[in-house]
Amino acid sequence: MIQIIFLLSLFLSISNASVQDFCVADIKGSDTPSGYPCKPASTVTSDDFAFEGLIAPGNITNIINAAVTPAFVAQFPAVNGLGLSAARLDLGPAGVIPLHTHPGASELLVVTQGHITAGFVSSANTVYIKTLKKGELMVFPQGLLHFQATAGKRNAVAFAVFSSASPGLQILDFALFASNFSTPLITKTTFLDPVLVKKLKSILGGSG
Ligand SMILES: *[C@@H]1O[C@H](CO)[C@@H](O)[C@H](O)[C@H]1NC(C)=O
Ligand SMILES: *[C@@H]1O[C@H](CO)[C@@H](O)[C@H](O)[C@H]1NC(C)=O
Repeated sequence: MIQIIFLLSLFLSISNASVQDFCVADIKGSDTPSGYPCKPASTVTSDDFAFEGLIAPGNITNIINAAVTPAFVAQFPAVNGLGLSAARLDLGPAGVIPLHTHPGASELLVVTQGHITAGFVSSANTVYIKTLKKGELMVFPQGLLHFQATAGKRNAVAFAVFSSASPGLQILDFALFASNFSTPLITKTTFLDPVLVKKLKSILGGSG
């Protein structure tokens, strides 16, 4: 008798447990620390869970000879609330993804073509650098400054997976020299030469 009551209560608790399996983002809503609001489940289809946006190489005709194509929640709404996302990196022979951080995520990089020299600087100012070949992985802990650059003379491709649907991306040189951070204050806060600051601003489009 006790067993029957136990089984019955177990059954009732399982049938009442409503797990929300997914929350495909309604990106017309606004992003919050806990993600976007959900699209109604009745309108979600298989297509929501697949993403074609990383098939094509990014355009590397630019100053860094490289491209980062994101599959973050804004591009791939199905990752909303799942604590992960992805990106594709295309690097030309002179390609570099300049020093940058993802304030919201750790990164796992998988090289799928060519060779990439990548590294990060820890909070203790220790530098960790590896040259990676096809099939190799490297991790970049959350928030730390890191970079990727082509090693050798051939194009390289890598895919990155992030531990957040919204990893964020802040590129150090763009923050300094493509913004309206004033030259006197950059000089004061970085100890860089004002001539160099102005030169980099003219290249990257900064003002102030
Ligand atoms: C790549 O970007 C360059 C510079 O913006 C542009 O001139 C070129 O048309 C683009 N190529 C493709 C295939 O979109
Ligand atoms: C930089 O530009 C933004 C947007 O135009 C403005 O809100 C901000 O106050 C500016 N910052 C400085 C330091 O001029």
